Amino acid sequence: MTVQHNYNDFCKPKLNKLLSALKLDKNYIKAEGNYLFTDDGKEVIDFVGGFGVSILGHNHPTLINEMKAALDNRVAINSQCSVRSESANLAQLLNEYIDNGQNYKVNFSNSGAESVEAAIKHAYKVHFDKVRREYERITRILNDFYYKVEREGIDVELPGDENDLIDFRNDLDEYNLNQFESFQKSPVIAGLKGSYHGKTCSPLKVTFNKSYREGFEGLSSIQSAFVDHDKPERLKELVNEMACVFYYPVLVGGKVEIHTLKITRVMAFIMETLQGEGGIKPVPEETLSQLASIHDELKIPFIIDEIQTGCGRLGSIYSYQNTALNAIAPEYITLSKSLGGGLVKIGATLIRGDIYDQDFGILHTSTFAEDDLSARVAIKALELLKENDSELLKRVNVQGGKLLSSLETLQKRYPEIIKNVRGKGLMIGVELTPLRSRSPFFRATGKQGVLSMLVASYLLEYHNIRLLAPLTTMLKGNPGKNRMSILRVQPPATITDEEIDALLTAFTEVLDIIQSNNEYLLVAH
Ligand code: F0G
Repeated sequence: MTVQHNYNDFCKPKLNKLLSALKLDKNYIKAEGNYLFTDDGKEVIDFVGGFGVSILGHNHPTLINEMKAALDNRVAINSQCSVRSESANLAQLLNEYIDNGQNYKVNFSNSGAESVEAAIKHAYKVHFDKVRREYERITRILNDFYYKVEREGIDVELPGDENDLIDFRNDLDEYNLNQFESFQKSPVIAGLKGSYHGKTCSPLKVTFNKSYREGFEGLSSIQSAFVDHDKPERLKELVNEMACVFYYPVLVGGKVEIHTLKITRVMAFIMETLQGEGGIKPVPEETLSQLASIHDELKIPFIIDEIQTGCGRLGSIYSYQNTALNAIAPEYITLSKSLGGGLVKIGATLIRGDIYDQDFGILHTSTFAEDDLSARVAIKALELLKENDSELLKRVNVQGGKLLSSLETLQKRYPEIIKNVRGKGLMIGVELTPLRSRSPFFRATGKQGVLSMLVASYLLEYHNIRLLAPLTTMLKGNPGKNRMSILRVQPPATITDEEIDALLTAFTEVLDIIQSNNEYLLVAH
């Protein structure tokens, strides 16, 4: 049966064309548990699940019942500017899973990018208020100095070649104002190389992949600075280098000395504990430990982006708690994806109570955020993960462990094709090599990173298995540069041993095809 699609005409023509070239242009009309169903009758095992959303599988019956019950009772969805008890219950629950003694205020939103946006905006406000306070203090010092010298007729020796008091004061005033404005014009957010935080204006600034950022630089004045995974101490240098430096006069004897006050322009540091879109890259434990020390030393607010790693994907509600980062009480934690149980769109920005700006709840709102329906489903989703002594969370680690070790075995069997297998919980990446010693076809696809998509295409076409590579594979690559070819394996916690075996069998078949340079078989369908 040929089904006519109108995605090309009315939504995303180019993506449609690329998907179609790869035979990935399926129309999924039903989703249940670990499966997606196409309009031409295929049952597909889903190892992608919304890039980490469906930890509970698709359309979990308990969540559907919760949603139905809420709707049957005519749940109040649109009741903005009221005391929203279900959101408060969800916020309380999210707090209960944090054991650092802090109270977090939770700002709800509708997507991952929005929850990062809220964290950045809050961090900006807090930092801006601090810079402004300091600027105003410096201005007062300068004024007091001027009036004292002027009123009391003190004879002073000005620094450098300055000899006019009014000019001296005006110069310093102007210089300090410039410094103050330099923060407003380019506040800095630091992140880790390879990170992904979303595609709206502010998160885009700290999304490392240039293909996404290029051409959009002017949309926001935020400046970003990235730190290598193995050089976390660079964060210290950045905080020091990217700073506003205010000058103020101090009278020592009859001489005027210029003193400085330095305030960093780095308003926050954002990171994932295991990078998803960036190529399933766990941040080394040693780096996390150093970052925790830098956090303590510099008091730079940390935004821990748990949008993909949180809510079960790595076997716990907050993945940072199982790392050296647990030594800190992060200022911000962002959640989304699995928080909605795969059924509702919800994002959450947890903001540490002691830094929470009381105006933020009024300044930063959204029409659809904080609705009771999403909150109820999210509460149920969290309860499902935690029920029976966290049975599902434990299963994430068990099934994840099996997947990882089986894929590692494959890597040992096909070292020329699989460069690396890595990940934690049910967030696993298989990186393919650039295939230098293969046929020209495999060399080219390996180099461009397209090979992973061809593998995905084969698995879907012949084995009804859905795996995907990062979406940038669909964009034009940088000529002359190797692009990472990686498959993301992110099934639900309910994935069975048989389904894992099906993946391994199918994957082995593709590896044999590549091994024997049999490109025809890979693209023939
Ligand atoms: N932060 C992280 C760590 C993410 O993985 C994503 C999305 C976002 C923020 C943005 O969330 O899409 O709801 O606005 N990651 C998807 C991925 C797109 O492919 O990993 P969003």
